[in-house]
Amino acid sequence: MGRDLTEAYQRLIFDPRPPGCEIIVGDALSVLTGFPSNTFRCCVTSPPYWGLRDYGIPNQIGSEFHLNDYIDHLTKVFEETRRVLTEDGTFWLNIGDSYTSGNRTWRAEDKKNPARSMRYRPPTPEGLKPKDLIGVPWRIAFALQEAGWYLRSDIIWYKPNCQPESVKDRPTRAHEYVFMFSKSEKYLYNYEAVREQANSHGGRRNRRSVWAINTIGYPGAHFATFPPELVEPCVLAGSNPGDRVLDPFFGSGTVGEVCLRLGRKFTGIELKEAYASLARRRLKWQ
Ligand SMILES: C[S@@+](CC[C@H](N)C(=O)[O-])C[C@H]1O[C@@H](n2cnc3c(N)ncnc32)[C@H](O)[C@@H]1O
Repeated sequence: MGRDLTEAYQRLIFDPRPPGCEIIVGDALSVLTGFPSNTFRCCVTSPPYWGLRDYGIPNQIGSEFHLNDYIDHLTKVFEETRRVLTEDGTFWLNIGDSYTSGNRTWRAEDKKNPARSMRYRPPTPEGLKPKDLIGVPWRIAFALQEAGWYLRSDIIWYKPNCQPESVKDRPTRAHEYVFMFSKSEKYLYNYEAVREQANSHGGRRNRRSVWAINTIGYPGAHFATFPPELVEPCVLAGSNPGDRVLDPFFGSGTVGEVCLRLGRKFTGIELKEAYASLARRRLKWQ
């Protein structure tokens, strides 16, 4: 009893993790099944994109050979996400698109960072042609609608500093999507907290659905991280201070950083220990 008390006291003094904030290393789907229903007020996440990056670990999402397997896999994770959200909860999903690979079946190795891109290119999905834009985000959005989610908004994340592309037969892609879903017809949306400036006299208006935000990488993360500025409005609109927020694909912990700043609790799930460790360092937990 005395020893328990001492340990609890030491944790109180030395544990840098605020109560209710945690990082769990494991597979998103298996970890989520262990949570009771109605646990989180909001989920903000950016899953691995299809066939793009190799995180170098078994069970990683995004390495499915066929597009439909990728969509099924994600739909299962997000059906569990729906169960663990409160009835008035919202889900904010950042996802980007890609093109069919044509007849190329492999990708040149990234010399600077071999772990970075998939070595293979997935086959052209049935019904599509070489050079087609796949429409991955919308395919996922429709699958989630069918699974019961309310699709409430497609938000365009416009990236003013996007990567240049060596194409001359179409515009350079400068955007990704953030889809806003709700679990029920009525849900928490803190309209006031996310209003935007309307004019130079300080007037404010309802936030618009195009958000111009520069990309910024997180040092040490060899994968796409989303900028805190993109996460902030999602957390502000979808939760109140003290609420629990979920990110099942935690990566370098951007959602955790934003939650700590905004006084929310959070649970981050990450498959790869090395990335979880990066996130712990970012949050100054180790
Ligand atoms: C696009 S990154 C997320 C980046 C994150 N939003 C950030 O800002 O750092 C996707 C993450 O999902 C992780 N991941 C891949 N498959 C997973 C799975 N089955 N369960 C949990 N995490 C997984 C990858 O290791 C990677 O860190």
